[in-house]
Amino acid sequence: MEAKEPLKSEAVWKKLQSHADNTAKKIQMRVLFEQDPKRFDKYSLILKTPKSGDILLDYSKNIIDEHIWPDLLELAKARKVEAARKAMFSGEKINFTENRSVLHIALRNRSNTPINSDGQDVMPAVNNVLEQMKGFVNKVRDGSWKGYSGKQITDIVNIGIGGSDLGPVMVTEALHAYSGKLKVHFVSNIDGTHVAEVLKTIDPDTTMFLIASKTFTTQETMTNAESARTWFLEKAKDKKHVALHFAALSTNSAKVNEFGIDEKNMFPFWDWVGGRYSLWSAIGLSIALFVGWENFEALLDGAHFMDKHFQEAPLDKNAPVILALLGVWYGNFFGAETHALLPYDQYLHRFAAYFQQGDMESNGKYVTRSGKKVDYTTGPVVWGEPGTNGQHAFYQLIHQGTRLIPCDFIAPVETHNPIRKGLHHSILLANFFAQTEALMRGKTFDEARKELEKAGTKSPDLEKILPHKVFEGNRPTNSIVVQKVTPFTLGALIAMYEHKIFVQGVIWDINSYDQWGVELGKQLANVILPELEGDAEVKTHDSSTNGLINFVKHHRKT
Ligand code: F6P
Repeated sequence: MEAKEPLKSEAVWKKLQSHADNTAKKIQMRVLFEQDPKRFDKYSLILKTPKSGDILLDYSKNIIDEHIWPDLLELAKARKVEAARKAMFSGEKINFTENRSVLHIALRNRSNTPINSDGQDVMPAVNNVLEQMKGFVNKVRDGSWKGYSGKQITDIVNIGIGGSDLGPVMVTEALHAYSGKLKVHFVSNIDGTHVAEVLKTIDPDTTMFLIASKTFTTQETMTNAESARTWFLEKAKDKKHVALHFAALSTNSAKVNEFGIDEKNMFPFWDWVGGRYSLWSAIGLSIALFVGWENFEALLDGAHFMDKHFQEAPLDKNAPVILALLGVWYGNFFGAETHALLPYDQYLHRFAAYFQQGDMESNGKYVTRSGKKVDYTTGPVVWGEPGTNGQHAFYQLIHQGTRLIPCDFIAPVETHNPIRKGLHHSILLANFFAQTEALMRGKTFDEARKELEKAGTKSPDLEKILPHKVFEGNRPTNSIVVQKVTPFTLGALIAMYEHKIFVQGVIWDINSYDQWGVELGKQLANVILPELEGDAEVKTHDSSTNGLINFVKHHRKT
C-alpha cells in the first residue's frame, strides 16, 4: 500500500477539525430533521440482494450535514481507500509485518475469478477445500459417517479460541433457525471447567471433535484438544479410533500429524487468512455441519455480495465506507471511546462479542505502517448486547451519561418466530425505532416541564425533578435493517463490518492484519507456568507478580 501523509497534515483533516470545533458543535439533529423532510432519503442506502431482500442502512441520525459529509467522503479519497481496497483484493501483501496477503475475500469468491497471492491463483485450492468440506459435512449429516462403535455422529465439539471459536459460535447462534441434525458445542477457555462441562453432555461414541487452530500451537486449544483425546480414549481405548472422531482445521500439517489426526481429516487453509477472518475457511466446518452445506454456501454468497458492493459502489453509496467514516468522525473529532453494536435479534446475541475481536484485534494499534507512533486515536472499544435486554441494563448511560457512544442498531423486518401473530416482533421493533428516535431527539427542558405539569407535579417538587428529566439528545445512531436473519444476510452483515474495519485501518494508516499485541502475555505465561507448577518460592518478577504466584502456590491444594 502506498505511503501516506501524516493523517493530521491532510488538508481535509484540518477542515474536519474546523467543522468539529465550530459548526458541528451547533448542530442539533432534531433541528436538521425539522428543516429537511428528505433527510432520511439523503442519508440512507438500500442494498438490493439477489436472494434475501433489501438491506437498509439509515445513517441520517448522525451529526453530519451538507458541509461535513462531503469532507468526510473526501477524507476517504485523500487516504486512498480505493487504492488500498484494490491492493487487498488483488492479493498484495498488505499485512506487511507478517509478509502476507489478506484474502479472506477469496474464501467466498463465488464468482471464482482468479485471485493471486505470490503470483499464484488461490482459487483452485480454495475450491478443493470447499469440496472436501462438503463431502465431510454431507456424510456426517446423513449418518453415513460412523463412529468407532458403528453409531452415527450426533454431537460436534469445536475446540478453538479467538478467531477459531468466536466466528463459529456467533454464526451457529445466529443461524439456530437453520439447525436440526446435529448439536454443536464449543470449548475455548483453558479453564478446565469449559471442557469438563461440555464433556459431561456428550458420548464419545457419537461425538466428532474439530480441533480448530490456524497455527496448531495455541496453548489453550492444544491443551483442550489433548484433554478431549484422553477422555475419548478412556472409552474408545484404541488410538486408531481417533481417526473417526477427530478432525483438524489448520494451516499446520506437521503439527496436525504429530497430534495423530488422519491427514484425510485435515481441512487446510492458508497463512493469508487472518484468524479473525477465518470463519469463511475450514474454520467454518462446525457452521456447515450445523446448518448444512447449502446454508453454508449461502453465507459465503452473502459475504461475496457485500465484497462486490464494497468493491464497486462509489464511496458515497458504499455501506462499509459510510460506517467507517462515521466511526472516524466520532472517534477522532468527538472523543468517542467506544462503539456499541446493538442487534435487536436474539439470534445475534454474540454479534458484538464477535466484532470485539474483529475490530479491536484489527485496529487496536498505535503505530502507523511506517513505524511512527500515532498522534490520534485509532480503534474504539466495541461492545454491546441485544435489545431489548440492553435497554434495561446500560442504555441509561447512552441516553444521559457524560460520554458520547455512537451505536449501530441492527434488526430484521421478519422474525423466524412470529409467535402471537408477530406481536413480540412488533414490540421489539417499536423499541428499536423508539430508542434511535429518543437518542436523536432527546427531551428539552420545556417538554420535560410540560410532561411533569401534565402529570400533576407541582413546585417545588417540579423544579427539583426537572433537570433529571431532561435528555440532551443529539446522540448518533446508525440503523441497519435486513429482511430476515438468513445465512445470506448474515454473511453480508459480517462482510460489511469487516470492510468497515479495513477502511478505518487505511484512514488511520495502521496494519489491521497483525496482532503482536497478544504475544507478550503469551510469552510471559510460558515463563510463569513452570514456576507455578514447581515447588520453589518465586522471586524473579516484580513484587506484585511474585506475590500473586506465591499466594496461589501456598494456598492451593491440587
Ligand atoms: O489471540 C491471538 C490469536 O492469534 C488470534 O488472532 C487467533 O484468532 C487466535 O489467537 C487463535 O489462533 P489459532 O487459530 O492459531 O489457534
